[in-house]
Amino acid sequence: MKVRIGNTQMDMRSVWYDKEKGQVGFIDQRALPFEIETYMALDYRDVAFAIKEMVVRGAPAIGAAAVYGMILAHRQGETEHGAHVLKSTRPTAHDLFHAVDHMLEAIRSGKEPIAAAEEYVERTIRACEDIGKHGAELIRNGHRILTHCNAGALATVDFGTALAPMRVAESQGKRVFVWVDETRPRLQGASLTAWELYNEGIEHAVIADNAAGHFMRKGEIDMVIVGADRIAANGDFANKIGTYEKAVLAKENGIPFYVAAPMSTFDRTIQSGNEIVIEERSPDEVRYARECLIANPESPARNPAFDVTPARYVTGYITEKGVISADEIGDYLSGE
Ligand code: MRU
Repeated sequence: MKVRIGNTQMDMRSVWYDKEKGQVGFIDQRALPFEIETYMALDYRDVAFAIKEMVVRGAPAIGAAAVYGMILAHRQGETEHGAHVLKSTRPTAHDLFHAVDHMLEAIRSGKEPIAAAEEYVERTIRACEDIGKHGAELIRNGHRILTHCNAGALATVDFGTALAPMRVAESQGKRVFVWVDETRPRLQGASLTAWELYNEGIEHAVIADNAAGHFMRKGEIDMVIVGADRIAANGDFANKIGTYEKAVLAKENGIPFYVAAPMSTFDRTIQSGNEIVIEERSPDEVRYARECLIANPESPARNPAFDVTPARYVTGYITEKGVISADEIGDYLSGE
């Protein structure tokens, strides 16, 4: 991804493995957009901390962190325990579990862990590029697209899922405009998606989470593209809290609603969204915005990090294999 530091622009990944130092590197997403800081994980517990505390976040990037974390766990002689610790960090994103299982299988079959991890990460990035190509075919010149949370390069190591079609469409000479939901409580839209789009030179505006319906009703949103954390076999999917209401509003206003995600986000073991475990995070994330208390100090708060959107609201799933419907998910999963 393009990262602008002052007048210089450089290419960075959001997660990487430094072979020489034997450490896992992250762009510290907690500091963005104000500072570009890196966080280096020296052992798998540091990687688990990075996932839990959202130094790294976004389903595919969490998967990448986990495969690299497993290199460290293996080196520390704690492969099985490391797998358990990494899997216990956050419950919702399927990529985390898929990634740790990929490494357990590779290590058990005698594969070199660094090679197995890099293979996983390269496959993730290639999937995102293909999602970009397939998704761009849905975008017409001048389209105004709403997105929720951050499903860009930061969330996927590079390139993105929901943002990938927009990047490809722009590179094809189409002009796109992106409506960016701020995404309370952690503000992934305002701080991360807006930062990525700015760095890529893609026209956009940040809106309060509750403004999307207003712009839909006024005819100023042509399509919605969001990412996903886990997709059940029937197409119900979990994504950042607030996604469900955007999907309902989109249907009410006759606006196509797409979910962009690699096959690693599909969970063949669950039949519907009712089986998805929704992470509940600290109420202080709601009571505070960054470090500033914004709620009545004595009032409690609730903070589900994700919600489930039923498949009937989804126009299509943009995957590396093409744009598919909920009815086709079973066929694609059996071909995996
Ligand atoms: O809590 P987060 O920031 O990890 O949640 C991220 C999301 O909900 C993203 O939309 C999803 O992981 C897709 S990222 C390509």
